This record gives sequence, structure tokens and C-alpha cells, in this order.
Amino acid sequence: MKRTEIKEILQCTKYGTFINVKGWVRTKRASKNVAFIALNDGSTIKNIQLVVEMNPENDKILNHIHTGAALSVDGLLQESVGSGQKVDVFTKNIEVLGEANPDEYPLQPKKHSLEFLREKAHLRFRTNTFSGIARIRHSMIFGVHKFFTERGFYNIHTPIITGSDAEGAGEMFQVTTLNLSDVPKTENGEVDYKNDFFGKVANLTVSGQLEGELAALALSKIYTFGPTFRAENSNTSRHLSEFWMIEPEMAFYDLEDNMNLAEEMLKYLLKYALDNCRDDLDFLSKRLLDEEKNKKAEERSMELIEKLKFVLDNPFARVTYTEAIDILLKSKPNKKKRFQYVIKGWGDDLQSEHERYLVEKHFKRPVILTDYPASIKAFYMKQNNDGKTVRAMDVLFPQIGEIIGGSQREDNYNKLYNRIKELEISEKSMWWYLETRKFGSVPHSGFGLGFERMIQFVTGMNNIRDVIPFPRTPQNLEF
Ligand code: 4AD
Ligand code: MG
Repeated sequence: MKRTEIKEILQCTKYGTFINVKGWVRTKRASKNVAFIALNDGSTIKNIQLVVEMNPENDKILNHIHTGAALSVDGLLQESVGSGQKVDVFTKNIEVLGEANPDEYPLQPKKHSLEFLREKAHLRFRTNTFSGIARIRHSMIFGVHKFFTERGFYNIHTPIITGSDAEGAGEMFQVTTLNLSDVPKTENGEVDYKNDFFGKVANLTVSGQLEGELAALALSKIYTFGPTFRAENSNTSRHLSEFWMIEPEMAFYDLEDNMNLAEEMLKYLLKYALDNCRDDLDFLSKRLLDEEKNKKAEERSMELIEKLKFVLDNPFARVTYTEAIDILLKSKPNKKKRFQYVIKGWGDDLQSEHERYLVEKHFKRPVILTDYPASIKAFYMKQNNDGKTVRAMDVLFPQIGEIIGGSQREDNYNKLYNRIKELEISEKSMWWYLETRKFGSVPHSGFGLGFERMIQFVTGMNNIRDVIPFPRTPQNLEF
């Protein structure tokens, strides 16, 4: 018989229909005359309840059914007498597709810590939290493509293996087929990359931006959505070594256009989640309330749905870096040296504690900071006339800090060339990027949204390791 997915079954009221349902057992409880099994197939966070009549044949089968087992069940759809669901399935035939030994299966029908589940990443999809996050991730991916498609953007695949450092931060993973225990050397004793696979140094990309710019300077509006890799040794709740980034790039956009697009996109995605992922969000909202129930009132986060709506309904604050430094210098935690990194003055880089202070305590809404000192930003950003700041913009979110980084790009050949020289970036690896400023150069802008940070915000999950199925972080490469 053809299988019906649980999401569909739960919406069906054709009682008496004979159906087949397949899935994994969440719980089983038996009473004298009847047993109840909660079955989940991932199509929705909700389970279907199986009602099993106690008789000698079913008794035998029930002995093989425990949390985690996979079943195929034929039965009759019936109006549920129990509360909580409209329908359940009165079973006629149960086949155990795969048993799960309760002495070995690590997921029991009780609450497990997120840390424990991180070590069971191969099974954590089977919890409500992680299947919910997986469904939300999918919806958000679809929402991203929908947003850009509706606005005439083209999706561009940029390379994963590259010969250049897009952010100039030197935090790249090298790709090589050289035998590391017998590395070929040049006469000067340096590694001879001529013998390597590409005949030169190759790395995993930190960003698709530079190639994205090439496409934007012909197609006008493009976006990339790909994996990016950073070998920075930061073990925080917001950093991954492998993460996904959405990078739109637009010809003829200045910084203001760029900010408007970023705000519009973030709000569109929040609305998309609210409209399409409500069951999962409701569950995650309860999870968060439960997680924080022992915290003091002022340390608790805003209720999840309320928080999403709040960001959706309020314009983002827009301030310059210089204004932000003033605010921080005058702030209590800075004066009382309660920040881990005390702000000393103009030119200091902002840490996430400062970003969160601005957003959560000072402005009480998302903030777009612009016009940062050139010295703390990437080489490609458009230089302002003051000779010290660049047309950068970072979007800062509550709980997250920086969620988007972007800028108007330097479109003047000489200025860009000089900056590359100044920072001792290899000109040889950038010749093609520089040429776009020689031939038909135009003002253009773009930004990068860290997809996992967005998912963290939407799901209320504290640790970025819980919003990507298989997190890659320093010293961690399981699964
Ligand atoms: O600010 P970033 O480094 O900007 C760029 O890569 C530009 N090329 C983007 C552009 O203008 N096209 O990174 C962009 C965003 C950050 O704001 C953050 O959300 C996310 O990517 N991000 C990370 N997310 C998870 N783990 C990490 N290690 C991240 N580093 C950056
Ligand atoms: Mg950044």
C-alpha cells in the first residue's frame, strides 16, 4: 500500500480510510487493553498516535517495539478520543522495519542536553529540536532563493578552491596533493608548488565575493550561496570553520542601497520563517523558555516569536562607527571596565560584547554600523574622502552581534591598486580583480549574510554548532 506522510494524515478527516504510515517510534506506552505508540516521520514536528489493540499477536510484536524502532503500519484512520490530536491510527498490521535495542539506543524519551546530542550528531535529527531546525534551515534556503529571484537577481556558483584570499585575513585552509612527509623544495628551500596539483598554492575559499563582483559587473544583480571555510582558531558559540554564506553583489548600488537591501532581505526571511515554520518555531519557543527558566528575569531572552516580530516591525538603527565609539566610551560597562575588551578610543575593533551592548542595551533594535576605520576592514572597501574610513556596513543583531558584513566596493583602479600594494597583498593573485576597475568600472556594493547566524537568530539556539547538521570547529571533525 502507498505510504501517506504524517503531515498529510494529520490534516485528513476521512475517518475509516485504510492507510499505510511509516516512521520512527518516539514513545510507547501500554495499558491493559491497548498500547499507544507515537510515530514520527520528519514530515512535521507532530507525531501520529498509533492505537494498538492488545491481543496475543500484537503482544509479540510490541515486545520488539521501542523508542527509535522503524515501523510500517497499516491501519484505519479514526477520530482520536484522546486530547491533543484530531486523528489517530487504529493498527491492523504492524511490520517492524528496523529494531532499536533499548539498552543501546542513546535517545530515550526524555530531555537530553544539547552537549550530549552534539556527540550523537548521527542520531540527533530524530529529536524535535534538531528535526525542527533542519526543516527551518530548508525553508530559509528556499526563502533566500525566492527573495532574490523575485527581485531579478541571478544565482552564481563561485569556486570553492581558489588561488586568492578574498578577505585578505590569511585564515585559509590549504588544499594540496603534495606528499606532506616528503615536500618538494626549490633551490631556496621553499616549498615548490610547481609540483602541486594546480601548480601553485591553492586554498578553500573564505568568500565568493571577488568572483561575485565579476559577475555583477555584467549581470547587474547576482548572489552566491555557498560554503565558505575559515581556519581561524576561535572557539566561540558564533564561529564555525565551515559555514554557509549568502553574498549578493549589485552594480550601480551605493552603500545606502546596500543597507536597504540588507534590511529588506533580513525582514523578508524572518517573515518567511513566521509564515512557513510556525509549528517548529512554537516548539523552539517553548524549548527556549524551558532552557532559561532558571535565569533571572533580566537575563532571559525575549520570547522567540515576539522577538522575530519585533525585529520585523522596527526600522534598524543606522549609525557610523565613530558615533558608536562615542556611545561605547560613555557606556557604563566600558567606564567600569566590565567589558572584557575595554574600548580605548577611535580605531579599536569592536568585539561581539560591544556589538551586543549597542543593540541590546543602547538602541534596543538591530543596528547597521557604517564607515569603519580602513585599518580594521578588508582591502576592497571604498575609501571615504576623509582618508581614514571606508564605506563598510555591519548589521548587528540581538543575541548574535554581527550577522552581516558588507560594503560599497572601491571602484577606482588607482586607489584599489595602492591599497593592495600597501597591504602587501599578492598583486599576481589579484590581476583579474583589478582589471574590472580598468574596464567599465562602476560603483557597486554587496554584503555577506552568515546563514548559520541567521538560523541561530530564527531558532533561538545559543550555539552555532546546533544549527548546522555537522559542525566543523577546531579539533572537531567527527561525522
Ligand atoms: O564579515 P565577513 O567576513 O564578510 C565577507 O566575507 C565579505 N566577503 C562579505 C561580502 O561583502 N560579500 O563575513 C560575512 C558574514 C559575517 O557577518 C557573519 O555573519 C558570517 O559571515 N561569518 C561567520 N559565520 C560563522 N562562522 C564564522 N567563522 C564566520 N565568519 C563570518
Ligand atoms: Mg565581518
